Amino acid sequence: MAKNVVVIGAQWGDEGKGKIVDWLAEETTGVVRFQGGHNAGHTLVVGGKKTILRLIPSGILHEQLDCFIGSGVVVSPEALLGEIDELNAAGVKNVEGRLKIAPTSPLILPYHIALDQAREASRGKAKIGTTGRGIGPAYEDKVARRAIRVGDLLNLDKIPEKLEAILAYYNVQLQHLHGAEPVKAEDVMAVIEQVAPRIVPMITDVSRVLNDKSQAGEKLLFEGAQGTLLDIDYGTYPFVTSSNCLAGAASAGAGVGPQMLDYVLGIVKAYTTRVGSGPFPTELFCEVGAGLAERGHEFGSVTGRARRCGWFDAAALKRSIQVNGISGMCITKLDVMDGIEEINICVGYELPDGSKTDILPCGSDAVELCKPIFETMPGWTESTFGMKEYDALPQNAKAYLKRIEEICGAPVAIVSTGPDREETIVLHHPFA
Ligand code: GDP
Ligand code: IMO
Ligand code: MG
Repeated sequence: MAKNVVVIGAQWGDEGKGKIVDWLAEETTGVVRFQGGHNAGHTLVVGGKKTILRLIPSGILHEQLDCFIGSGVVVSPEALLGEIDELNAAGVKNVEGRLKIAPTSPLILPYHIALDQAREASRGKAKIGTTGRGIGPAYEDKVARRAIRVGDLLNLDKIPEKLEAILAYYNVQLQHLHGAEPVKAEDVMAVIEQVAPRIVPMITDVSRVLNDKSQAGEKLLFEGAQGTLLDIDYGTYPFVTSSNCLAGAASAGAGVGPQMLDYVLGIVKAYTTRVGSGPFPTELFCEVGAGLAERGHEFGSVTGRARRCGWFDAAALKRSIQVNGISGMCITKLDVMDGIEEINICVGYELPDGSKTDILPCGSDAVELCKPIFETMPGWTESTFGMKEYDALPQNAKAYLKRIEEICGAPVAIVSTGPDREETIVLHHPFA
């Protein structure tokens, strides 16, 4: 029996992780975010009511459980408090009391945001298309060992000295490389002093609490953000985010041993989408892509940007299954494929020298060279929207799911047929 489940995005993000984490959370006493920051946008729909979460784990609507922000997450205290206020206003109970933050999580502060945005502006056409939330610079500071971390809020008098060195580094770049305004220490201190009284009570030894819960036999859910193809190591580098978004990152990012991760659920959209720049072999530029965007409401939940849409890429999934060790897949947004006459699945790529490969390479330069090889299947005309029984799905929809399983080599455990928590088909429950 699986005790702890890791949920990760298996494509370029926005696969529907939030919906599934919210649905699975009912089984648990704790949901943990282990990487990323408020670049994520996770949409939950319960009884028709929509909630968008960016930093707070997608289990927060279940009022019996605690939510954890692990050390691998970069925390914007302003974004976090704003999100807590939104949840409070929506009537979610005791959010601050149930949210626990690791002292070792790096903070995102105004200079990170300023540099992220200034760099993107300077890059012009070569921009990465970041969310502009300061994610990259905050992870750089962590690795460079100069980050101000959540735990530093316990000793405010030590911060000005750290800040002086940090701002010397940032302002040289902002002013001289990017022609941008410098960031003032007093403005950053004002933010820190304002947020600290509300953040400090949430500081918890997350690693310890998670290990204690597990020892006590409680089930935990680890929530990934972004997706495998945006992973800093294995994604389409440099058009990626600045953290590891893989299942393995749950161990380091939450502070638990890898043996505690019993089941890896890969969230897989029934087609492919991507926000921001970078290669996308199966991207569609015709009305089929426009139809997917329209029926799937493919607009970013954080930045509102239109998501690029394309056919399902089984060769990309193969890479994802490999680097995550996916135990089962949850295929989401199957309903968005309703009414497409003929469906293409990418089963591999042809390379410029005429050779073929059945798995997506890592890195943008290598992916740019990949010409997709498609297999065509008949689509279905019936609506699958909101279906809860596998047997009720149209034959061709079942054949599509089976073919995905066959090519990718991982079982389909769950199928999602609508945004609501209830619009879910279970073939194998990850906690069973
Ligand atoms: P995440 O970042 O992986 O949590 O995904 P997002 O929330 O950014 O994007 C997924 C979008 O698809 C959201 O608007 C969800 O409400 C919606 N969604 C999730 N699952 C389904 C589904 O099975 N069908 C449809 N039509 N929409 C879905
Ligand atoms: P969720 O968790 C989709 C993309 C950005 C950009 C690249 C780098 O909702 O799936 P960053 O701001 O992280 O430095 O941007 O990563 N990106 C996402 N795309 N879903 C996300 O999160 C994303 N988070 C970052 O669009 O291309
Ligand atoms: Mg999203």
